[in-house]
Amino acid sequence: MRPPVDGVLGAVGDTPLVRLTRLSAELGLTAYAKLERFNPGGSVKDRTAVSMLRAALRDGDLVPGRSTVVESSSGNLAVGLAQFCLYHRLDFVCVVDAKTTAANLRLLRALGATVEVITEPDQLTGEFLPARLRRVRELNATLPGSFWPNQYANPLNARAHHETMHEIAQALDGRVDYVLFPTGSCGTLVGCARYVRVNGLDTRIVAVDAVGSVLFGLPPGPRLIPGHGASVRPPLLDDTLADDVVHVTDLDCVVACRRLARSEAILAGGSSGAAVAGLHRLATRIPPGSHCVMIFPDGGDRYLDTVYSDAWVEHHFGDVSGLWRDREPAGQVSPC
Ligand SMILES: Cc1ncc(COP(=O)(O)O)c(C=O)c1O
Repeated sequence: MRPPVDGVLGAVGDTPLVRLTRLSAELGLTAYAKLERFNPGGSVKDRTAVSMLRAALRDGDLVPGRSTVVESSSGNLAVGLAQFCLYHRLDFVCVVDAKTTAANLRLLRALGATVEVITEPDQLTGEFLPARLRRVRELNATLPGSFWPNQYANPLNARAHHETMHEIAQALDGRVDYVLFPTGSCGTLVGCARYVRVNGLDTRIVAVDAVGSVLFGLPPGPRLIPGHGASVRPPLLDDTLADDVVHVTDLDCVVACRRLARSEAILAGGSSGAAVAGLHRLATRIPPGSHCVMIFPDGGDRYLDTVYSDAWVEHHFGDVSGLWRDREPAGQVSPC
């Protein structure tokens, strides 16, 4: 039984590791899911938010009642930052864009964030991200007492996940053969992989990336499912840390999520589906009985209008419902 913790932020981390019994039997290995939705803000990014902002508070870069955190995020990191800022009496300006879902906007406002919506994409690239980052830099330069955590370059993003890997290693008595990471800012992968190296674990690190993401050498392209994949290579990324890279499509994620819900009764987020699709791809190369851990960064409740909406799925992929009954998800695996 976990002892009481001080304040909601004390409940970040120590998430359940669940053996997926049916998937394990199907693949001939032991598959585990690290369910990061059990963090109080609902995702793995609570760890990143706490790691980056707690250090800034400690170092005096943030002062309760006087400082403003400024960040560009429309998803899980924004929720984690909003939760931290509300708890510590810090202002939070969150720069989002027109593609941010109404549900996320409501969530952020309920957590006290000031939300600024960028309505025009960058003129040069047609992408929203550069326009959002430009606005964050502007705010950071002009708002008195502002602080930009900058998750893509902040080493404390990765540092947060030494603990994630420590929890996994402890739960499995050090016998962790594979860990699969849906990868975006690369914080989770880099932090866990460094822990593996420093502690001499015999664990293969598998990056799960999106087709259309530029993280691991594929050309940019359209992507529907947020979380894994990126349109720019983050400074945090260290190519030497991933032993394998698996690329999955949006449809792979949807199929894997729907199959997982049916087989394990776990409603997982879209990028968790990417991890499951990645494990299916790798399974034939994995020695039988191996212990394979998948990071499930968030839960399916944030995807009810997308991954778990029949209308959304049909709009983007046609009538594919037979795929989560009859076929394995498709995808490619390449050694890194
Ligand atoms: C749902 C989801 N999956 C995967 C990731 C990728 O995690 P990381 O940024 O640590 O690479 C994120 C990051 O925001 C996420 O929100």
